[in-house]
Amino acid sequence: MIEIAKTENRIVIAREPGGPDVLEIVTRPVPVPGPGELLIRNVACGVNRPDQIERLGFYPAPPGAPEGLGLEVAGHVAELGEGVSAFAVGDPVCALVAGGGYADFSVAPAGSVLPVPDTVAVADAAGLPETVFTVWTNVFEIGALSRDETFLVHGGTSGIGSTAIQMAKAAGARVIATAGTPDKVAQCKTLGADIAINYRDEDFQAVVTEAGGADVILDMVGGAYVQKNINCARMGARIVSIAFLTGSRVEVDLMRVMLKRITLTGSTLRARPLAEKARLAAAVRDTVWPWIAAGKLAPLIDSRFALDDVRSAHERLDSGAHAGKILLDC
Ligand SMILES: NC(=O)c1ccc[n+]([C@@H]2O[C@H](COP(=O)([O-])OP(=O)(O)OC[C@H]3O[C@@H](n4cnc5c(N)ncnc54)[C@H](OP(=O)(O)O)[C@@H]3O)[C@@H](O)[C@H]2O)c1
Repeated sequence: MIEIAKTENRIVIAREPGGPDVLEIVTRPVPVPGPGELLIRNVACGVNRPDQIERLGFYPAPPGAPEGLGLEVAGHVAELGEGVSAFAVGDPVCALVAGGGYADFSVAPAGSVLPVPDTVAVADAAGLPETVFTVWTNVFEIGALSRDETFLVHGGTSGIGSTAIQMAKAAGARVIATAGTPDKVAQCKTLGADIAINYRDEDFQAVVTEAGGADVILDMVGGAYVQKNINCARMGARIVSIAFLTGSRVEVDLMRVMLKRITLTGSTLRARPLAEKARLAAAVRDTVWPWIAAGKLAPLIDSRFALDDVRSAHERLDSGAHAGKILLDC
C-alpha cells in the first residue's frame, strides 16, 4: 500500500519564458485520478530537451495537459482511477505524461503507463518512456528500420540518440552516429555504434557516403543537415525529423529526393491522442521491453538532481555537456 502522507504536491512551473532561473517550485493539492487514469507517487522524473523549449516559451502544453513541466516519470501506483484494472496500488511503473512530470505525484492515463522492467531500478526507469516511445515510433514505425539496414542518428549521446543506437543494434541494424566531442564519440561506440563521427572534425556526409549510405536517418539538427542527409541517403531511404536545433526552414534539392525515392517525414509525440499513445505503449511493451530484459537496452544516465534543485538540472541541460539522461529525484 502506498501511503499518500502528503496533502500537497510540488510541481515546477516556468514563471515566464527564460533561463533556468525562471523555474519555480509551487505547491498544489495532490491530484485525483479521473476515470482511466492512475496517480503515481514519483520516485524520479526525466528532464528532456522539449522541457527546455517549453521553458523558453516555444512549446506550449497541449490543451488539457496537467500543469507544470515534465513529460516522463517513474514511481509507484498510489491510486487507481475508475475502470483501471491493469495495475495495482504499489506497482512500480513508468509513464509518459503530457505535463506535470516534475512533481511528487503525477496523474497518467493508464494507456501511457508501463511496468518498470525487472532489470531497471525504479529511479532509473524515469529515463525510459520519452526516449523509447519517440525512437520506437519514429525509427521503427515511421522509418521502418529493418535488420541489416544502415541507420544514421545525429546527437548520438542525446537521450534520444543513446536510446536509438541501442534499439537499432538490438534490431540487427548497422548504426552510424554523430556527436560533438571525442568523449561523446567514444560513448557512441560503447553504446554499440559501428561508426561514430565527430561532426566538428569530419564531414558526416562524406563518412556515411563512404560507408555505403544510410537507409534510415533520425535527425534532430535540421538546417544544413537536411540536404546533407539527403545526399548520403541510400535509394529508398526514410529521413525522419524529430527536431531542428539549427533551424526548421531549409532549401533542399528535390531532384535528389526524387531520384533516390527518399521519404522525408517527421512527427511529434506529446500532442498525439491518448489512444495512439496506448497503442505505442503496447508495441513498446511487446518489442522493446524484451530488449531491456535481455540486457540490450538500458537508460544512459548523465546526472541526477533533487527536485528542489531543478534549476541546476536545466543549467546542465542548457550547457549541452550532458551525455544521456538528466533525472530529478522526487
Ligand atoms: N518529435 C518528438 O516527438 C520528440 C520527442 C522527444 C525529443 N525530441 C527532440 O529530440 C531532440 C533530442 O532530445 P533529447 O531530450 O534527447 O536532447 P538532448 O539529450 O539534450 O540532446 C540534444 C543533442 O543535440 C545535439 N546537438 C545540439 N546542437 C547540435 C548541432 N548544432 N549540431 C549537431 N548536433 C547538435 C547534441 O549533441 P552534441 O553535444 O554531440 O553536439 C545533443 O546530443 C531534441 O531536440 C528534442 O526536442 C523530439
